[in-house]
Amino acid sequence: MVLSDQSVDLEQMFPRGRDSFLADPDDFRLGVIVGGSLSKGLTVKLDIGVPIETLAVGRYVVVRGQHKRFFCMITDVVLDNTNADIQSAPPDFSDPFLAAVYGGTAAYGKVNVQPLLSIDSIGEDAGKPKPVKTIPSHFTAVHDATVADVNSVFGPEDATHFNVGAPLELETTQINLDLKALVQRSIGVFGKSGTGKSFLTRMLLAGIIAKKQAVALIFDMHNDYGWAAQDERGVQAKGLRQLLGADKVLVYSLDPESTARRGGKSDFDVRIGYDEIEPEDLESLRVTMGLSDAMLDAARMLRKQWGTGWVARLIDAGSVDFDTIEEETPHRAGTLAALQRRLQRFPRWDFLVRNSTGDSVTQIMNAIESERSIVLEFGRYGNSLEAYMLVANYLTRRIHEVYIEKVEKALGDKSHEPPQLVIVIEEAHKFLDPKIANQTTFGIIARELRKYKVTLLVVDQRPSGIDEEVMSQIGTRVTALLDNERDINAVLMGVSGAVGLREVLSRLDTKQQVIIMGHAVPMPVVIKTRPYDEDFYTAMEKLVGLPVAAGTRKKAADRIG
Ligand SMILES: Nc1ncnc2c1ncn2[C@@H]1O[C@H](COP(=O)(O)OP(=O)(O)OP(=O)(O)O)[C@@H](O)[C@H]1O
Ligand SMILES: [Mg+2]
Repeated sequence: MVLSDQSVDLEQMFPRGRDSFLADPDDFRLGVIVGGSLSKGLTVKLDIGVPIETLAVGRYVVVRGQHKRFFCMITDVVLDNTNADIQSAPPDFSDPFLAAVYGGTAAYGKVNVQPLLSIDSIGEDAGKPKPVKTIPSHFTAVHDATVADVNSVFGPEDATHFNVGAPLELETTQINLDLKALVQRSIGVFGKSGTGKSFLTRMLLAGIIAKKQAVALIFDMHNDYGWAAQDERGVQAKGLRQLLGADKVLVYSLDPESTARRGGKSDFDVRIGYDEIEPEDLESLRVTMGLSDAMLDAARMLRKQWGTGWVARLIDAGSVDFDTIEEETPHRAGTLAALQRRLQRFPRWDFLVRNSTGDSVTQIMNAIESERSIVLEFGRYGNSLEAYMLVANYLTRRIHEVYIEKVEKALGDKSHEPPQLVIVIEEAHKFLDPKIANQTTFGIIARELRKYKVTLLVVDQRPSGIDEEVMSQIGTRVTALLDNERDINAVLMGVSGAVGLREVLSRLDTKQQVIIMGHAVPMPVVIKTRPYDEDFYTAMEKLVGLPVAAGTRKKAADRIG
C-alpha cells in the first residue's frame, strides 16, 4: 500500500532542520508555552521534530514575550500524549507514515522550564536584567538561549568579572562571575567527594587574588592550594604560590618538612605557644574534642588562677592535685582529669611549643596588609581535625579582632581600612555546627556580613550540617553534585525557584559541573567549570604580569626552587 511505502520522504515531512529554521542557526525554536505558573514553572510543548534528547536539564531557554525576554532553565523533560491508548498499544514506529502521524502530535515531548530573570525590551529599564515577577502568555514561542542572550545577562570579562566556565550546551561562550559581589558576602563551595571542589576553589581564588578583589587566608587542610597539587591521574596542578608568585601569595606552614618533601618551600613556619591558647580557643572544638560545658568552665577557672601557663601546667601529668582543686572550687576532680586527658593530645603536634614565639598573627597580618594572600599548609596535621580546627580558630579569632579594631579606627576612611579578606576553610560544617555556630568566630563572621571586611569561603561535602542561620547568610553558593536529600535541601534553602533547581542539582555530572546561585550571579547558572590547565596558567600569569611559562612544566618546577 502506498501509505506505508518506505519511500516516504521523512525530510519532507519534517522540513525543519536545525539550520533551516531561522536566520540565526543558534536561535532555534523549541516550542510554545502551554501552561504553568510563576512558582512552579512553565510547561513548553515541543515542536514536531525537535530532538528531545538534546534538551538536558540545566540548559537555558529564552521566551520572547511581547515586551520582555524571559530567561528560563530546563528543569524537567516529559513525554506526553493526547490519547492514553497510545501507552497500551504503541503505534508501529518502524512505519515511517505512522511515525510521521503520531510523532509530535498524538505523542509529543514537553519540557518544564523555571523562569529565572526577565529583560524588558521597552521602557526605562530596557535591557536591564530583573527578577521575574510575571510570566509570558500562552503559546509564546520558546527558543534555545543564544550566546548573545547569555552575554546580555552576564556581561564581558573585565577588571572585576572573571571567566569561571561555560554554560551548559553553550560551550562557545563563558560565564563571567562578578568577583566584587562574590567576596562581599560569604561563599559556599559544596559537592560530594571528588566533584572538583578544591580545583574550583583554587580557580576562584586565583581570579580573586589576581584581579585584586580580596586577600585570601586559606586554611589548607589537604595541601591543595600552595605549591603543586597532584590530581587523580598523578598530574601536577599548579598551586597559587607557584601560579601567582610571591608578590601575591605566600605559603606558611605548620609542617615545613612535609612542605619541603612535596617540593615546596615554607615562607614562614607557624608556631603557637601553649601560653597563647585561651579557653575561648577551645570553644569551637567542643564537639570535635568532646569537651563538656563543665570542662570549658574548668578551663576558664584554671586560666584565671594559673595565668598563661595554664595549658602547660595542666598537661604535665604529675604536677596537678585535682582533689585539692575540688575541695577549694566548685569544679570536680573528674572533670579536670577529663579536660587534662583531652589537652594531653597537644604535645603530639610539633607546631605547638612551650613558649610563645608571639609573631604568627603579626606575620599573617603584615602579609595581609601588604595585600598578599596566605596559604597555611597543614602538612601531616591536616589528618587531624582537632589540630585543623584549633589552629584555624586560634588564628581567625585574633585576626578578626584586629580587623574590627582597624576598621573601626578608620572611621569609614577606606584608605585606612585593611583590604577585603576572604578566609577559606574546609570541612566547614564542623566549624558551623548548629551546636557551636553561635559562639565561634566563624559563626560570627558569617553572620555579621561584610561589616568588618572579612568573609568566609567554606568548602564542604555536607552542607546540611551547617547551621541554618549561617547558611542563609552565605551569599553565593557554588554547588557540584550532591546526592543526599538533606544536603540538597540545605543549599537550596531560601533560593527562589528552588523546586525546579532541585532536579537540576541532583543530575549534575559527577565532576567539573556546578550550579552557581546567589549574590554574584544575576540568575542561577549551570556551568562546566573552566579547565585548570596550561591555558588557565597562561591567562593568570598574564594577569599578574609574570613571565608566561610557555606551557612547560619544567619552568614551573624551576620557579619552586
Ligand atoms: N577544573 C578542573 N580542571 C581540571 N581537572 C579537574 C577540574 N575539576 C576537577 N578536576 C579533576 O577532578 C579531580 C577531583 O577534584 P577535587 O580534588 O577538586 O575534588 P574535591 O571535590 O575537592 O574532592 P574531596 O572532597 O575528596 O576533597 C581532580 O583530581 C582533577 O583530576
Ligand atoms: Mg578537596
